[in-house]
Amino acid sequence: MTPSPTHPQPDPAALRRAAGLLRHAQYLVVLTGAGVSAESGIATFRDAQTGQWTHFDPQQLASPSGFRRDPGLVWRWYMERLDTLHTTAPNPGHHALAELAGRVPRFTLITQNVDDLHERAGSKQVIHLHGNLAAFRCHTCRAPYTLTPGDRQAQMPPTCPHCGGYIRPDVVWFEELLPADALDQADTAARACDVMMIVGTSGVVFPAAQLPWTAQSAGAQLIDINPDETPYTDQAAVALRGPSGLLLPPLLQALDAPE
Ligand code: OAD
Repeated sequence: MTPSPTHPQPDPAALRRAAGLLRHAQYLVVLTGAGVSAESGIATFRDAQTGQWTHFDPQQLASPSGFRRDPGLVWRWYMERLDTLHTTAPNPGHHALAELAGRVPRFTLITQNVDDLHERAGSKQVIHLHGNLAAFRCHTCRAPYTLTPGDRQAQMPPTCPHCGGYIRPDVVWFEELLPADALDQADTAARACDVMMIVGTSGVVFPAAQLPWTAQSAGAQLIDINPDETPYTDQAAVALRGPSGLLLPPLLQALDAPE
């Protein structure tokens, strides 16, 4: 994204302050949300005009009860999202985060996103708190399932070869628990880091939204990157207002500037 009247040039003083924190960080943890993928063309969930949950009912499309009520509708919606994923690419924000990993002594990337754009930008060992849109499993017995080309066009989900249950994407739905190992790793990282950068999340979906508060209680400084105010803005050591694809590359460059 290029600077525009709605998204002017990043504030140089705030960039310098954020770069200063990153330069001295011993352990940087980054928590991302849907906003980091917005400039790749993947709709966020809660943005007023474009958000998924503005147009679709999360209770129908992203809950076990919605899946039981209308498995075909849920299946077709996720197949469309999967198609979208195949036509998108990481944006400068994803690339900058991948490069940032090599610029600090210790780094962990935690995402709520179910896309693989961080990995495609080169990030390693990403902790996915909400699962993966391109992985599938049985809703009943949880056995993993490999999608066939025919499944992608189908009106109904395929059924499990082991138990006959419906296949679903391996993502976390409302009313469901997060994967325990991912949540444990994320919580441990939040307690151990000295800087947490929060990028493109509204900070309203728990337990992911708790991680910055956990980090702050353990002594970490927060950097909030978002076009809008978030629950973290007031508590952050630095808040950078704007799209992450526009802010993260100059932030990386600012690391090289003299203090
Ligand atoms: P939301 O849609 O709730 O919030 C997206 C955030 O991104 C908002 O704060 C926007 O201001 C910000 N944003 C928009 N464009 C941006 C840009 N170009 N750069 C940076 N930020 C931008 O998405 P999440 O916080 O990720 O859960 O939502 C959390 C969870 O709620 C999701 O993981 C999903 C959803 O229900 C599951 O699927 C389980």
